[in-house]
Amino acid sequence: MTAARPLLLVGAGGFARETAAAAAVCPEWTVLGFCDDDPARHGTAADGLPALGPAEVVHDHPDAAIVLCTGSPRNFASRAALAARLALPPERYGTVVHPAAAVAPGVVLGAGTVLLAGAVITSPQRVGAHVVVMPQVVLTHDDEVGDFVTLASQVALGGGVVVEQGAYLGAGALVREGLTIGARALVGMGSVVLADVPAGEVWAGSPARPLKARAGASA
Ligand SMILES: CC(C)(COP(=O)(O)OP(=O)(O)OC[C@H]1O[C@@H](n2cnc3c(N)ncnc32)[C@H](O)[C@@H]1OP(=O)(O)O)[C@@H](O)C(=O)NCCC(=O)NCCS
Repeated sequence: MTAARPLLLVGAGGFARETAAAAAVCPEWTVLGFCDDDPARHGTAADGLPALGPAEVVHDHPDAAIVLCTGSPRNFASRAALAARLALPPERYGTVVHPAAAVAPGVVLGAGTVLLAGAVITSPQRVGAHVVVMPQVVLTHDDEVGDFVTLASQVALGGGVVVEQGAYLGAGALVREGLTIGARALVGMGSVVLADVPAGEVWAGSPARPLKARAGASA
């Protein structure tokens, strides 16, 4: 049996703690702690793990794998910004797959991607890098999930759905087969998506409709 590899989580909020809990039940990982830019968190502990300092602490631990664990609905571009700032090669990033996720043979997960408990990927496909897949998300045949996408709990994609880079799908959103969710778009919780969502737009409801243009969406 190979030794567990040390893992550092960037961020110390809710998703970081969830990732720590998932990694704690994966024999391949030993979680060292959190790196968070909020100085108020430095030197404190969450769930028994220390907050070691700002994100740049990752450079002091060259043997550790890294997972970027930020990205609330209010700032879901933060993982992409952190990746650019830290400029680590892809091989520095770990993937965390909770043992209770069901992943079809042949699925390829990008560097830094996290699957929490109950996530299901039903057939071979590539899921991008730094993707957050929260509990009970269902990805089906021929889906394409781009880098830095966030899929909140119980999102379900029909077959052949494309979710472009950096999009955020809120909890319980359902997407009809064959549709595209554009880059950096946000789909509200509980939405039923029956049409393509253009890049950078915020859609919600059943059926989902545009709510408003998101500031900075063209960035
Ligand atoms: C879509 C969303 C981002 C909008 O947030 P917001 O910008 O703060 O918008 P507001 O709450 O001010 O609502 C604006 C309008 O949209 C409506 N609305 C907001 N979210 C909605 C949703 N999910 N479905 C339908 N309508 C929604 C509100 O009722 C309101 O309508 P009104 O103007 O007629 O009163 C947010 O509601 C959402 O769904 N976030 C995702 C949350 C989530 O999934 N979290 C899981 C991870 S922890």
